[in-house]
Amino acid sequence: MRLSQGLVVLATLITAAASSPTSTLQKRRTSRTSPPSGCLVVDSTESSTSGWYTTLNDAVAALSGSGSACIFVYSGTYTLTEQVMIDYEGALTLYGYTTDTSTYADNAVIIQWSMTSTEAGSDSASAAIQVLSDNFSMYNINVKNTYGSGTQAIAFTAHGDQHGYYGCGFYGYQDTLYAYAGNQYYKGCYIEGAVDYIFGAAGAWFEQCQLVSNGGGAITANGRESDDDTWYVINNSTISAASGLDLSEDVYLGRPWRDDARVMFQYSSLSDIINPVGWTTLDTTAVPTFEEYENTGAGSNTSERVQETTATGPVTMDELWPDGYAWIDSTY
Ligand SMILES: *[C@@H]1O[C@H](CO)[C@@H](O)[C@H](O)[C@H]1NC(C)=O
Ligand SMILES: *[C@@H]1O[C@H](CO)[C@@H](O)[C@H](O)[C@H]1NC(C)=O
Ligand SMILES: *[C@@H]1O[C@H](CO)[C@@H](O)[C@H](O)[C@H]1NC(C)=O
Ligand SMILES: *[C@@H]1O[C@H](CO)[C@@H](O)[C@H](O)[C@H]1NC(C)=O
Repeated sequence: MRLSQGLVVLATLITAAASSPTSTLQKRRTSRTSPPSGCLVVDSTESSTSGWYTTLNDAVAALSGSGSACIFVYSGTYTLTEQVMIDYEGALTLYGYTTDTSTYADNAVIIQWSMTSTEAGSDSASAAIQVLSDNFSMYNINVKNTYGSGTQAIAFTAHGDQHGYYGCGFYGYQDTLYAYAGNQYYKGCYIEGAVDYIFGAAGAWFEQCQLVSNGGGAITANGRESDDDTWYVINNSTISAASGLDLSEDVYLGRPWRDDARVMFQYSSLSDIINPVGWTTLDTTAVPTFEEYENTGAGSNTSERVQETTATGPVTMDELWPDGYAWIDSTY
């Protein structure tokens, strides 16, 4: 390329950058170590600056109106003294501090809590964070329920439409991620648990996620109750045991929580933790649609599967979301 051509290209790039919305540029940055402009800030050591709070709850409480809002959380382990409930009228984005936005692996923000569903009165209410509003996104934040094994103890309840999760981590044992209702997209996320650790009736797509079992049990417990468009689709993801655990054949792809449970694992890597029968039981009257398509790995042999419907092809996002999905962050 000659210098003059290079300059033209450079000028074009600068013009393009200048005219793109700031939010897009922020999302493309590989690190996010200071607050994106306009965001409220959570920093456990500093609250004397206007718009800065020491807890996520204080920042959420400071939201008002219905405009698009964002909250940036500085690095740290935030052990909650009370749960976070988000029910904001506008679109809200939570950003975590990270030196690499492209992966959960460098997440530096951990929000943790310990409570069982029995103590809380319901599954949803035991979560460290419950999001009850629509148009919610979260980037590079890890959320944990540290209760451990024994009973339901939810880390995160996503109960709303048009939710996007990018490079996030969800940690628990039983019922980690309650993908409750609405349309939800999870990309590049880490989801850990043993029993029913992704459950609920949302129409949810899991793209390039790591589903990590820390004990025997079913990965999904889908709660679809009628013949609607929803699925749990696990696409291009990796299913494995937490490091150091031998869970050979101890894990099932899912079990039906409700009558019309519908789950697809496609283009994913299934390790030997997957039991050859694939799926197990929960709701005894269920007629589930459990499918697999083009998976690889030691756990992907479908010859002994039970309760499985033969897939004729992959599920597409157009099928899951016939009304469109412009709300997902396609730049992530
Ligand atoms: C969510 O976003 C959609 C458009 O993407 C808009 O129509 C709807 O009003 C928004 N809802 C809220 C609660 O902001
Ligand atoms: C699903 O995974 C396949 C295989 O990796 C990939 O080609 C496709 O783009 C993915 N689908 C979506 C919607 O990201
Ligand atoms: C996801 O898709 C990419 C691109 O097609 C591929 O390289 C990768 O191996 C896939 N991951 C899994 C877990 O199949
Ligand atoms: C799948 O499992 C069946 C029965 O265990 C076995 O006969 C077959 O060879 C396996 N297929 C592959 C590709 O490993």
